[in-house]
Amino acid sequence: MSNLKISFKTEKELQEAILQEKTRGTPDLEIGQKYGVTYRYIERLITKSKGINVSALNVSKKVKTLYPKNFEEEQTSVWSFKQRGKWATHSGEYRGNWSPYIPRNVILKYAKPGELVLDYFCGAGTTAVESKLLGRRCFALDINDKAIELAKKNVDFEIDDKGQQIYEPKLFVDDARDLSFLQDNSVDLICSHPPYANIIHYTDSKEGDLSFFDIDDFLKEMSKVARESFRVLKPGRQCAILIGDTRRKKHVISLGFKFINVYLDAGFKLRELVIKRQHNCKTTGFWHANSIKYNFLLLAHEYLPIFEKPKSPVSSNVKKIKVDHNLVAPILEESPLKRKLDEIETSTVWVLPEEDFEKHLNKNVIDRYSNEKGYSTVAFVSHSKDDMNFTETKEQKENGLLFIKSPFLSNNPSYSNIEYYLKEIEKIAKQDLPNTRQDGFLVIQTQDVRIDGHIEPLAKRLIDMLTLDNLWLKEIVVVTKEQANLNTQSPRDYLKIAHQYLLIYEVKK
Ligand SMILES: C[S@@+](CC[C@H](N)C(=O)[O-])C[C@H]1O[C@@H](n2cnc3c(N)ncnc32)[C@H](O)[C@@H]1O
Repeated sequence: MSNLKISFKTEKELQEAILQEKTRGTPDLEIGQKYGVTYRYIERLITKSKGINVSALNVSKKVKTLYPKNFEEEQTSVWSFKQRGKWATHSGEYRGNWSPYIPRNVILKYAKPGELVLDYFCGAGTTAVESKLLGRRCFALDINDKAIELAKKNVDFEIDDKGQQIYEPKLFVDDARDLSFLQDNSVDLICSHPPYANIIHYTDSKEGDLSFFDIDDFLKEMSKVARESFRVLKPGRQCAILIGDTRRKKHVISLGFKFINVYLDAGFKLRELVIKRQHNCKTTGFWHANSIKYNFLLLAHEYLPIFEKPKSPVSSNVKKIKVDHNLVAPILEESPLKRKLDEIETSTVWVLPEEDFEKHLNKNVIDRYSNEKGYSTVAFVSHSKDDMNFTETKEQKENGLLFIKSPFLSNNPSYSNIEYYLKEIEKIAKQDLPNTRQDGFLVIQTQDVRIDGHIEPLAKRLIDMLTLDNLWLKEIVVVTKEQANLNTQSPRDYLKIAHQYLLIYEVKK
């Protein structure tokens, strides 16, 4: 509590007054100003007194429209929903709930009508509502009885069935780490959204609530969930989970990629790695100014890995292809454009024009991370599918930035290309970093690639590999092109990979 504006005899009286305001629907900002309390204080008070972390009390469940208007299924690896979606009983009241567009897309792609969808982090029941609307069966569970109470209200609506079979979702209190109520190979799709370690607390510290575990312990607990997921899912079927990164001391913690490792270790393959853009990020005013001043980017993306349980036990199918190591010409151009600082991207998603895409990307990286102290670049290029090279340009002593570019990756490389690429990057990082100044940057441009129907998540693999003491991961940036809407085309088996990454490391000596 801070800056109390109205005096109360006891804290209890203050809390009662705040709860009354919440019941009347007074916005948090107004309550904060009137009673001199922080947003965090209000959030904790609600969670403690109501047993559930909601931003509003008494939200109407009256349905105005059952379905989203002009819905088109996503076709690329970048999903972006400007509005979170308000059809049926969906509302943003449950903190940290996901946009209904996510389970809607996942269910339409990976479960047929009548098939069974499992959401073991049910929350307010967004997946269950979508399953009901789309005629899929659904089991949804949550550790918090109050969340299940709310979810039950949310799935309680009528559908004018027009011949479609309707299945009422089954909602119950349980623990995602123990799915013993389900038989092996019995679920058609898992579609779920866990806490992001202890970033938001969902209960007032209920036993088993994973939102009270710090990152390492959270991942350990999630490995139990991943093993159970693998057991209950039918072979050849999908498990889609939304997860995001977090920040500590101005550096990013790649919770998303660590999380992917947990599911891969449980035996899953990666079918897709979708980037979900967030639109509630503040990219103007105070945040914008501070982003530039303190050189950090606002987290504006989350990951939706879509795992797949292999149809049969996994066999190693690494293909050995000879790699030609000849050097070819440099590719990086220095752009004469001089941009103003406030034109620099300030969030972790950079949407650049298709025309001169590489030029814009180079310019952004160099302006932001070389600090006008010089830079050197290494560019990987390939002339054909099975051959790849790299070349170094503009070597200087004591640069502010070492920039490693790999635009070749869209050419569907082989496994051996990838291993060569990873090894070379490790070698370059070790050899060339001594020429980069203390507090300078290493920036690696990379991209996920698809081989034999599965994603090789190269950004994740690079981060797993680059564990040098003098390199601190500062940012994971997603770069994508401004492009025409591809969603009107008929859905294909696989999403088009439409994003690249910039891994930004700070060099500490
Ligand atoms: C990010 S929220 C899910 C939000 C949900 N997708 C929605 O749209 O409402 C994560 C949920 O996980 C629940 N949870 C935490 N630990 C759990 C556990 N061990 N088993 C099941 N649910 C758990 C929390 O109570 C919370 O409701």
